[in-house]
Amino acid sequence: MTEHHKLIAAAQAARENAHAPFSNFRVGAALRAKSGRVYTGCNVENATYGLTVCAERVAIFKAISEGERGFEAIAVVADTDRLTPPCGACRQILWEFCGDVEVVLANVKGKSETHRLSALFPRPFDATFF
Ligand code: THU
Repeated sequence: MTEHHKLIAAAQAARENAHAPFSNFRVGAALRAKSGRVYTGCNVENATYGLTVCAERVAIFKAISEGERGFEAIAVVADTDRLTPPCGACRQILWEFCGDVEVVLANVKGKSETHRLSALFPRPFDATFF
């Protein structure tokens, strides 16, 4: 199994824990740090809707809060034929902590694509501007 396939499998397993009773749209993410450790996340929804947190941000914040820095790749898994990319807010957070990381998009049927974050999120705003 390739490293990307392992990351996809971890994201798919995390997706099982999604708390998505409002959208029924379940997402899993898995983030591989340069240390080799993998941090997973799922979307966590709330009855107020606006407090919902995406799978990607859960994975990133878990990693950061554990003291991890430096990341190689993130996999995102959903049950869609058109592969689900990170939302705009997650792209900004990914840029902040992961830079031009590899983003592996996959669905539950085994289809996948890999993009660099710079292709999904051109001309980012970051701390280099101030
Ligand atoms: N969602 C994610 O967790 N990640 C994405 O990349 C797209 C959207 C979640 C947020 C919400 O719980 C549900 O999917 C529908 O937007």
